[in-house]
Amino acid sequence: MEMAEPGILKKRAEQAAAFSYSPFSHFAVGAALKTANGEIFVGCNMESSSYGLTLCAERNAIAAAVAHGHRKFSALAIYSRTGAQPCGACRQVIWDICGDIPIFTVNQNGVVKRYTSAELLPNPFDKRDLEGSKAL
Ligand code: THU
Repeated sequence: MEMAEPGILKKRAEQAAAFSYSPFSHFAVGAALKTANGEIFVGCNMESSSYGLTLCAERNAIAAAVAHGHRKFSALAIYSRTGAQPCGACRQVIWDICGDIPIFTVNQNGVVKRYTSAELLPNPFDKRDLEGSKAL
């Protein structure tokens, strides 16, 4: 991932952002998630007139990859014009599904910053906390 790949992930995230449905915030976000076997799944944000039903780009990309049978991931790029970091809800889901992967925030000029999932969600609540608990 380290050198060449942010380029293609950035491009795919930017392309996905162009499909954003964001008539309320006018803030387009695109995400591109690379699987361990090198496939890329994308997502964009999709808003609702009932604002709380809005879906973030990152979680849409993760859901697309999972729906195609993927459970191992190597990197995530998140595009917005400001190069914004993922929201708290997405940080939780990135950690749960992708584990500790590199996360690149990107904008039109390229990579803004590189993080890891663990940096973005220190001291997570996760499946380890549920060990031993029984479904009702
Ligand atoms: N948004 C994302 O898609 N991902 C984030 O991590 C932050 C926020 C979207 C949700 C909403 O459509 C718009 O950005 C403004 O909050």
